[in-house]
Amino acid sequence: MSLNVVLLPGDGIGPEVTAEAARLLGRIGELYRHAFQLSTCLVGGAAIEQEGSSLPARTLDACLAADAVLLGAVGHPRYEDRSPADRPEAGLLALRKALGGFANLRPAACHPALADRTPFRTERVQGADILIVRELLGGLYFGEPRGYRDPETAFNTLVYSKSEVERVARVAFDLARGRRRRVSSIDKANVLETSRLWRNVVTEVGRDYPDVALEHVYVDTCAMRMATNPASFDVILADNLFGDILSDQAASVAGSLGVLPSASVGGRVDLYEPVHGSAPDIAGQGLANPIGAIASVAMLLRHSARLPREAQAVEQAIDVALASGARTRDLAGPGETSLSTREMGDAIEHALVELFDRHHTYHAV
Ligand code: NAD
Ligand code: IPM
Ligand code: MN
Repeated sequence: MSLNVVLLPGDGIGPEVTAEAARLLGRIGELYRHAFQLSTCLVGGAAIEQEGSSLPARTLDACLAADAVLLGAVGHPRYEDRSPADRPEAGLLALRKALGGFANLRPAACHPALADRTPFRTERVQGADILIVRELLGGLYFGEPRGYRDPETAFNTLVYSKSEVERVARVAFDLARGRRRRVSSIDKANVLETSRLWRNVVTEVGRDYPDVALEHVYVDTCAMRMATNPASFDVILADNLFGDILSDQAASVAGSLGVLPSASVGGRVDLYEPVHGSAPDIAGQGLANPIGAIASVAMLLRHSARLPREAQAVEQAIDVALASGARTRDLAGPGETSLSTREMGDAIEHALVELFDRHHTYHAV
């Protein structure tokens, strides 16, 4: 099959992790004989520097014409004092809106080889396997009006419509059917009108899924439960802001923020990106964990390319590399040697080729 993928490395560690992800995608193409065309465009701070805009028209046009988009990260301390509209992050938000993927899937599971890397006692985190379905195009991020009323008063608008909640809720229930058939819908319905609407619409959608257990959980309680009993969750359905916060918290279950992937689906073109940001504190040093970006490639292969076998091969290669002790610095324990970003990419690629060869030989015998 052929697939046209736009690569948006972005800022900070974005170029470092997407380089490994692109290499893996290339290797998959070679092994399984697919023609993946990769083209690279500017976004975020890198695009502001070179083109004066965080989302140049050329980038947007290329993304809209692509089969899938793979992004690294955006954001740079240089823009810290700028208003939201003039920051690198504005380019990412505009891109999400234009591509239209309203359901942002953020899986976070405890990898057996990393259970001792989490802050939890091993028996408590083992088996934890969460899928956060985050509403991505509404809520506080995009609500109008917004701004400054006067120099000392700022405001944002939290607004959700029934149709926005309904469409993302359906994605969550559909995905729960392929998992453990539980949806935990997150809100703050004891305080917010938008949350009352959210809760009512999700309950209504849930009636179409009698085989899926639905619970409503306040966001504060959810944060507590994620820290005390993460294995009690299956699918977590949350609005844009709550989903953003809870998905970083879910990194504690996985062992590092650096291993979490995401896919934004349901729109014109699907967008894949690790959950982490540009990590200015480690950028340019070869310390970043590329697994979040590489696991995003697996999601791309499954959802956009409809190549489940290849997606599984990438996920297995990550598992094998981790099981064999491959660790970037974020995953290494005290006294353990750690791999560079490139070396972790190598370890996963090596595992991928070995798995392929073993499978190939097995069938040839
Ligand atoms: P961050 O996710 O960049 O980093 C948080 C912490 O996690 C840092 O200590 C960092 O070193 C570590 N970390 C993150 N990714 C890692 C990886 N792959 N390997 C090893 N360690 C990793 O969050 P931040 O520092 O709060 O934000 C930095 C910038 O990134 C900001 O401008 C923010 O807006 C932006 N950001 C962008 C995205 C995105 O592009 N999707 C996501 C989150 C944050
Ligand atoms: C994320 C990031 C983004 C978000 C920022 C960079 C706009 O934190 O993808 O989680 O808040 O959605
Ligand atoms: Mn975030």
